Amino acid sequence: MQTITAGAMRLPKLGLGTWRLRGEECTTAVLGALGRGYRHIDTAQMYGNEDGVGAALAATPVARADIHLTTKVWWENLAPDAMRRAMDASLKALQTSYVDLYLIHWPAPDMDLPAALATLVRLKEEGLARNIGVSNFPTALLKRAIEEIGAPIVCNQVEYHVLLGQPKLLAYMREKGLALTAYCPLAQGRLAEHPELDAIAAKHGVTAAQVALKYLFDQDIVAAIPKAGRASSQQANLDAFAVTLDDADRAAIAALPKDVRCVNPGFAPAWDV
Ligand SMILES: NC(=O)c1ccc[n+]([C@@H]2O[C@H](COP(=O)([O-])OP(=O)(O)OC[C@H]3O[C@@H](n4cnc5c(N)ncnc54)[C@H](OP(=O)(O)O)[C@@H]3O)[C@@H](O)[C@H]2O)c1
Repeated sequence: MQTITAGAMRLPKLGLGTWRLRGEECTTAVLGALGRGYRHIDTAQMYGNEDGVGAALAATPVARADIHLTTKVWWENLAPDAMRRAMDASLKALQTSYVDLYLIHWPAPDMDLPAALATLVRLKEEGLARNIGVSNFPTALLKRAIEEIGAPIVCNQVEYHVLLGQPKLLAYMREKGLALTAYCPLAQGRLAEHPELDAIAAKHGVTAAQVALKYLFDQDIVAAIPKAGRASSQQANLDAFAVTLDDADRAAIAALPKDVRCVNPGFAPAWDV
């Protein structure tokens, strides 16, 4: 599995997204993915499935040290005591003594960002999180966290796929040596069928979803975490690494509209800053 190095973190480029997988279904999906060679699992306090992920971690023959586990603290729990309680609950449900990456899931409209980041740093110093980062941070807010507050964050997890561009954020994150984890890399399944991607896929004897993922894998600082409950989807997403896109394919993908945002709740920040 290819990895990205950001600070002390080595992040496998393909991870299993688990949003909407619950209980036994989640455990089965995570166990299956680990058995197929996935070494990166993405969950969150808000997904209500850390227990399902934890059951898989307890049952898999894969060593904990070989698995990159990301979880996230919900935006209503960013005050120091609340974040500490959230971390304790996550670790208990996940049946592990540490996570590899702990993220602020969303910036909160009224948050005390320096205090939230200071708490993240303390959790890292205590060994509960090997690395820390953020999610859904637009460039200006990320810049504030890194340059004004000096937080040692290594990752920003944001929506990114062939129908949504992130040029400003990518340029800044590349300059700062951060990893960008692409969520909804298949635009929540929409990219399983898509006229332009289908044409590229047919040329290479692969699927549109695999083309969409390889476009992301080919970018140096980008990891992707497609949710895949079906065994066939999990295997197809691993096999996407073997796809070779040529210049014409990349140009056709670059020319697609870049304004499809799948996740945009009422508490989301202004994106284009
Ligand atoms: N940080 C955040 O705020 C945030 C927000 C949203 C999501 N996320 C994370 O990102 C992950 C991925 O996003 P997402 O779940 O919303 O959407 P997604 O990964 O873009 O799409 C998931 C859908 O694509 C299907 N799929 C997967 N692989 C496929 C393949 N090879 N061929 C055809 N269909 C395929 C899945 O079907 P099957 O499951 O039936 O195989 C599922 O219906 C989440 O699970 C979560 O971990 C984070």
